[in-house]
Amino acid sequence: MSTTVCRTRLSRQFFRALQLRRCYSTPTHAPVTLLGKEYPRDATTNITSAIIDKVGRNLYMNPSHPLGILQSLISSHFRDFNSMTGVPPVVTPAQNFDDLGFPADHPGRSVTDSYYINRDLMLRTHTSAHEVEVFARGERKWLLSADVYRRDEIDASHYPVFHQMEGARVFSSDANGKAEVQEDNERLSQHLARSNIIIEDVPHISPTNPPQDVHDPVLAELVAHNLKLSLNSLMLTLFGNRAGVNEGEPLRVRWIEAYFPFTTPSFEVEVFFRGKWLEILGCGVVQQQTLDRAGVPGSISWAFGLGLERIAMILFSIPDIRLFWSQDPRFLSQFLAGQITTFKPYSKYPACYKDVSFWLPDTGLHDNDFCDLVRDTAGDLVQDVVLVGRK
Ligand code: DAH
Repeated sequence: MSTTVCRTRLSRQFFRALQLRRCYSTPTHAPVTLLGKEYPRDATTNITSAIIDKVGRNLYMNPSHPLGILQSLISSHFRDFNSMTGVPPVVTPAQNFDDLGFPADHPGRSVTDSYYINRDLMLRTHTSAHEVEVFARGERKWLLSADVYRRDEIDASHYPVFHQMEGARVFSSDANGKAEVQEDNERLSQHLARSNIIIEDVPHISPTNPPQDVHDPVLAELVAHNLKLSLNSLMLTLFGNRAGVNEGEPLRVRWIEAYFPFTTPSFEVEVFFRGKWLEILGCGVVQQQTLDRAGVPGSISWAFGLGLERIAMILFSIPDIRLFWSQDPRFLSQFLAGQITTFKPYSKYPACYKDVSFWLPDTGLHDNDFCDLVRDTAGDLVQDVVLVGRK
């Protein structure tokens, strides 16, 4: 037996509703309806009604919502990139995982980590799921913003629906491509040299973060450098000289070697903000097999992916990820298109703290199953769910 303690701010109706639920998923043969389309259920189906309700809200498309303000700021930074939005979240596991080189036993594939509509379809867990189709359309400088879904714990910084932006830039792998990268690197280096930024770098390629065998190492190095310059410049736009924060101080950006199945070399970017190093994004030189799958030979590309909530929470001082979903005018009226302002907290409810313990069975119920049950019953009213021990 294990115990899970729910810290809650809830009404009595919630407890009654929770007691009345006989099992965590109500078996039903009704199809799953998403964005007006019906999908058959099967034994793999684990999408819940709380999640279905969020599909199509498209918070990042509202220009005066913090996520929309941030999305527009990033899109205007990359002003000559094609910025795509509104791509529906239903993808195949092949798009989400296989096409990107995820191994067959990757934990993200499991029903305890991802939402499946049925055996053949799932909700994307990241915007990288669209890389192949966008490259296949011949896009060479693009951004794609979208809602993504991952089964997760309940607390102030995790939510099963969040938003990501993917960006990529493709160059020809010939002399023209090389000249284009060199020219852009020159332009970006000059811009950064004039800016108040300190960069802790790692080599663009190294024995622990090598170029791909199929790439000319000189070109791979130039493209990785272009990626870093482009993202350092984005970090300046997002975090440089924010009123009352870094004023006068140089912005500090740190590059770290990383691993992603779909990029080599790979990096993570961190920014020093309000006294802490914050992880901002993942990026790298796209695995050639992704471009091959997309049918764009003779090309080399970089790509990055970032989470909008994480950055918006920092920039707008929003303390709880659930606030993004609020329809309370006291939240929504605080933000204006094109402006990064500091969120002023307000009292959501008269406080009513209750700690409740639930005994979980030994087998057959994953922690995330329990969290989805709580979420489906109580919406966003539960403060957090904490597993306090296992037998
Ligand atoms: N898809 C990754 C994630 O969700 C983020 C990411 C990392 C995207 C590296 C990229 C990339 O395009 O190159 O964690």
